[in-house]
Amino acid sequence: MKSQISGRLLLAGILAVLLVAPAAVRAQQVAATPPMGWNSWNHFNNKIDDAIVRAQADAMVSSGMRDAGYVYINIDDTWEGDRDAQGVIHSNSKFPDMKALADYVHSKGLKIGIYSSPGAKTCAGFEGSLNHEDQDAQTYAQWGFDYLKYDLCSFRDIMKTASSPEQAHQMMVDAYAKMRDAIKKTGRPMVYSFCQYGDDAVWQWGPAAGANLWRTTGDISDHYARMEEIGFAQAGLSKYAGPGHWNDPDMLEIGNGGMTTDEYKTHMSLWAILAAPLLSGNDLSQMSPNTIALLTNRDVIAVDQDPAGKQGDRVWAEGPMEIWSKPMADGSQAVGMFNRQSGPMSFSVDFAKLGFKGKVKVRDLWAGKDLGTMEGSYHATLPAHSVILLLVWAQ
Ligand code: GAL
Repeated sequence: MKSQISGRLLLAGILAVLLVAPAAVRAQQVAATPPMGWNSWNHFNNKIDDAIVRAQADAMVSSGMRDAGYVYINIDDTWEGDRDAQGVIHSNSKFPDMKALADYVHSKGLKIGIYSSPGAKTCAGFEGSLNHEDQDAQTYAQWGFDYLKYDLCSFRDIMKTASSPEQAHQMMVDAYAKMRDAIKKTGRPMVYSFCQYGDDAVWQWGPAAGANLWRTTGDISDHYARMEEIGFAQAGLSKYAGPGHWNDPDMLEIGNGGMTTDEYKTHMSLWAILAAPLLSGNDLSQMSPNTIALLTNRDVIAVDQDPAGKQGDRVWAEGPMEIWSKPMADGSQAVGMFNRQSGPMSFSVDFAKLGFKGKVKVRDLWAGKDLGTMEGSYHATLPAHSVILLLVWAQ
């Protein structure tokens, strides 16, 4: 009898481990899907402070962005103050109490991110983490931070002392790995974001050096020309992305006012197909209904956040007309038809070229409309700089 019970208990225990352990392991993995949130740099630049960060957290909730999946409130450069006699970093007068700020952001059901550099100075000339990596990681953990963007900046000066490009490269890899280890020692899970502008094909070595995401380019700006230059240059990088490690073509500009609605739709659609981090870079406390609609379209976000974590890629291009596709976990494909020209263009998606045989079902994600069953191809006329984002299933 006793042995029967303990046999059952043992079986139940084994089952529980089998069922529960993978979930627990998954829960510990940061950035299982591309990180979503907000970052201060694109809109606020060096004019960021405690009150603005709190207002962004408030607006992330009240606008519905949190419920759409946005999580991180990330403070970029210019928060840094001086180090004390023990070398401990302090925030400057714009941020009187980082721990209280982190507590506030957490109380909203959100997470919070911070910024530093492996160099002596950040890009905006503030205190970097050089020779203080362990101390800084401990400070971020004590304050309650969940995310670190680590920006190469003045570390490039140190790399100039190398005797060869190979040595310079190794110095950079080591600097990023050093902060990875420092974060690990804190015991606090943090998303680790590399920002070194895509140098030295970072997608090839970034994950091993600890990156959950790595910038693949220089800075974006709120202009169609720069956004498309960056976005469409991501072709070929899809094989490097996956759960826990993502290509980062930089933050979003949606809502900052420099692009048309069609251009911002192109921006959001392309980033979703790229499984790119979706870090809004606008003032969340001053959003028009149109901006909120662009940032919170559930169908489009679902493309970006698909659990399979497969980055999409270009499948066809003819001059300014491009078709990109992203394989989804359920076997469907998200398909973007992009017109990069400054006038209208007509073209078709050939479903057979995407690997579909026979009939397909099609949904237009921005229109929020099922287009029904189709065979062969889908033809459309696209206005200047616009996109049609489809979800296509085998019938
Ligand atoms: C740049 C970085 C930007 C921003 C800025 C802050 O190097 O690419 O995203 O972080 O530094 O100074």
